[in-house]
Amino acid sequence: MSHEDFPTERPAVVTCGLPYANGDLHIGHLRTYVGGDIYSRALKRLGQRTAFVSGSDMHGTPVAVNAAEEGVTPEEFALRHHEQYEETFPKFDVDFDNYGHTDDETNVETTQEIVRTLEAEGYVYEKEIPVAYDPDADQWLPDRFVEGTCPYCGEHARGDECDEGCGRHLEPGEIEDPVSTITGNPAEYREREHKFFAVSDLQEYLAAFIDRLEGTSNAQNQPREWIEGELQDWCITRDMDWGVDYPGDDDLVLYVWVDAPIEYISSTKQYTDRVGADVFDWEEAWRAIDGSDEDDERDAGSGGEIVHIIGRDIIQHHTVFWPAMLRAAGYAEPRAVMASGFITLEGKGFSTSRDRAVWADEYLEEGFRPDLLRYYLATNGGFQQDVDFSWGRFRERVNNELVGTVGNFVYRSLLFAAREFGGAPDVDLSEDVGDRIDEAIEAFEAGVNEYSVREVGESAVRLAQFGNEYIQRNEPWKLDDDDPAKARVIRDCVQIAKAVAVLFEPVTPEAAENIWDDLGEDGDVHAVGVEAALEAPAGSFDEPTELFEKIPEERVEELNEKLEARVAEATADDGADESEDAGAGADGDSSDAGPAADLEPLADERIGFDDFQDLDIRVGEVVAAEGVEGADKLAKLTVDIGLEERQIVAGIKQLHDVESLPGTKIVVVANLEKAELFGVESNGMLLAAGEEADLLTTHGDAKPGTKIR
Ligand code: MF3
Ligand code: ZN
Repeated sequence: MSHEDFPTERPAVVTCGLPYANGDLHIGHLRTYVGGDIYSRALKRLGQRTAFVSGSDMHGTPVAVNAAEEGVTPEEFALRHHEQYEETFPKFDVDFDNYGHTDDETNVETTQEIVRTLEAEGYVYEKEIPVAYDPDADQWLPDRFVEGTCPYCGEHARGDECDEGCGRHLEPGEIEDPVSTITGNPAEYREREHKFFAVSDLQEYLAAFIDRLEGTSNAQNQPREWIEGELQDWCITRDMDWGVDYPGDDDLVLYVWVDAPIEYISSTKQYTDRVGADVFDWEEAWRAIDGSDEDDERDAGSGGEIVHIIGRDIIQHHTVFWPAMLRAAGYAEPRAVMASGFITLEGKGFSTSRDRAVWADEYLEEGFRPDLLRYYLATNGGFQQDVDFSWGRFRERVNNELVGTVGNFVYRSLLFAAREFGGAPDVDLSEDVGDRIDEAIEAFEAGVNEYSVREVGESAVRLAQFGNEYIQRNEPWKLDDDDPAKARVIRDCVQIAKAVAVLFEPVTPEAAENIWDDLGEDGDVHAVGVEAALEAPAGSFDEPTELFEKIPEERVEELNEKLEARVAEATADDGADESEDAGAGADGDSSDAGPAADLEPLADERIGFDDFQDLDIRVGEVVAAEGVEGADKLAKLTVDIGLEERQIVAGIKQLHDVESLPGTKIVVVANLEKAELFGVESNGMLLAAGEEADLLTTHGDAKPGTKIR
């Protein structure tokens, strides 16, 4: 890489963090992919040779756990999602030059080769470590197969990541009070040999690397503490079947975070295989050229301009483990990491388990064009800021800026030009308008060099805004046909419209194409450079089409209602289920009780009285109550049901003052199968109403044990 301004002579690779092939895409995911697509289109506009690559992340427990829940093989499960992503990205005009997946041959080979190099270079050693094991399931518990308490911050965490607390990556054996997510039983730690990558040997290198790293400031600041603190070595193997086999050891697969980023390289290779090395040479981009015989003297400045675009939850992987691997294996280092902030929906977290999300498919099914969302995601905040999505604000931005500013300017200019001159009048461009377009090009370039997707997008909108003021100020409709000012003003406006098409293309590729057609330009607007913004327009064209359509207010109400109804439904399903939802703490919030209008519909199916009689429902009285340690929501109750005392676990810890419950009469299903929640046995279920778990009780003084009929 270099530190020169873009465009440089070197090939660039723009990558997007690989999506785990384990669920549906929503607009939170799209923020990174749209950001990456805009950035790579903008680089290409500047004349930078660029490959835009990514792929599906097929391995690891995030895929294996979900596949197991569905009862299918991880391979089948992951491939299905991979195909779905491969189809979805183009629908949002996210046009990867190559989109592969981590289980394909190229990536398996590249990964194994890199690992062999790490070994050959002396960076890999074996060590015995404690690994979580589920004796009941008779199985090792890597990563998401185990949960527990984060040793750094004390929050509830997954085996490999403190997802609800400090955000740290956790090594095998680190999590405290491990619990198996397969059986819910406490896990044991058993000793086991694993392979380690000596990241600590690269401390000095990483400390220098992080100082040169470009991109968003969060990507540079967040990892400093880790790099400058005590760098831990990294366990790179797992006891699983699904993954890339560790070369030379059949029992182990590589940790998913080894083979996943290597897909950045593999995907670039596949691109080269397709287009030829004369068009794009992956080796020129990825190989560090060894400047001397001494490995340590390798030139950090060789290779291409590698820019990683990711979510901010995976900064550590991209600024510590990944550059360490690249360095040790003789590859070039990233030039920049752009880490996006999170996205919220109407001020609250997305929650896939509560269906509180705007899904990618849903957005398209509602009939919205990709341009609108791309514009919103790119410009509603800086790339590293959190962005809130709401249909109301979406409408405002579309109506005010896309329709009101850009669409309005282009339409009125081209309409006037077509009607009065049959196209662009054949006169010279005014100097000050030329200067203003130059200024917009510079802002666009600055956006790229400052890694600001928003600035790239806004350079075009501000130019359109200028166009509107310019046409308003000059009022060409008031000028006589033979007044040369009339032709000049229109010529200027057509030029501005053309420049808007060129500069707005990365954000709104479809609208750019439409303007290009309306202008009667031949050639491909997606392939022209920024300099085309100042090249003379084609000349003749017909009346234009409208670029964007206004979104009526009723649409927003309708969309909000749909969202609310969906969330209420998912939440009601959720509330009936007493088990702890591991994901809810991370992305959901449980306090939003749905409005009365959102009551669950009545069940259609009737049951017989016999079915009802099968339920042994009893009056109970709480004798003792305490929270279950390590579980956010669970409380353990001792309940007197007349004939005996029962231990019952219920998800009410956050909803009630647990300590004040003893003495309270409740209603209990006594013959429900026993269950184990967070390692604690639950022998019966208490009945409670709704999201707030309003406890059912008796109106009179029925004694504990009384049967309910
Ligand atoms: N699949 C991972 C996630 O969603 C990201 C992998 S990015 C890569 O968190 F660097 F490994 F490619
Ligand atoms: Zn933590």
